[in-house]
Amino acid sequence: MDRKPLTLHRLRELHAAGEKLTMLTCYDAAFAQVLDAAGVEMLLIGDSLGMVLQGQPSTLPATLEEMAYHTRCVARGNRTAWVIADLPFGSYHEGEAQAVRSAVALMQAGAHMVKLEGGGWTAPLVRALVDRGIPVCAHLGLTPQAVHALGGWRVQGRSGEAAATLKRHARELAEAGAAMVVLELMPSELAREITQALPIPTIGIGAGPGCSGQVLVLHDMLDITRGKKPRFVRNFMEGAPSVEAAVRDYVREVKAGRFPDDALHGY
Ligand code: KIV
Repeated sequence: MDRKPLTLHRLRELHAAGEKLTMLTCYDAAFAQVLDAAGVEMLLIGDSLGMVLQGQPSTLPATLEEMAYHTRCVARGNRTAWVIADLPFGSYHEGEAQAVRSAVALMQAGAHMVKLEGGGWTAPLVRALVDRGIPVCAHLGLTPQAVHALGGWRVQGRSGEAAATLKRHARELAEAGAAMVVLELMPSELAREITQALPIPTIGIGAGPGCSGQVLVLHDMLDITRGKKPRFVRNFMEGAPSVEAAVRDYVREVKAGRFPDDALHGY
């Protein structure tokens, strides 16, 4: 595939043209090569690597050093995709100076953008990073770093009050300069409303088809993850002759608006 390197400018153009954006998690150079060749626009070095690669019970143990290591690996394998690295738990919670220091480490490792979780208290951090030339992706809804505070892996924003808070947080994060926002595990209707109200793209995971784009954990959609998968996951390896073909199918299905299917994958 002959594709120019994705830039924030290009991602904005695609969003403005109404094209669905594609993102997958990626933790190493080998998969980065495959995902890039298959046409995925954004590779996310998610702190889900704590669970997926390390076998931890949550994302909380993933460290900044580990995130930087995996970001370096992905950056080496990637050629054209936009690379986003998660700021892990504890690497921005102390305030702006720590957030900037941590983000610098990930950008120097090869990220083009950092992602941080939560709303309200994070808006000033987003502003501080963006002011310093560091693009930011926000993350609302089920924010795994707060899993213990949220009472487990539960759908967020079901009550009117919780939905209003999520909408307010999304607006504040966009105003603070976030360039996109991941919406995780929330009712499809709420995610659609947030998407329509924001000038920036929303990237859904368990948030229905109304988002501007989609993300999945790579090992879930390739059916490597054992045990019961969440409702929003589709096994793209089924019937696929290769990993690259499965990922191409994911890109095709998201772009065509066929994945996710609200009846099968929505809340
Ligand atoms: O860490 C991760 O993989 C993520 C995605 C689930 C969006 O944040």
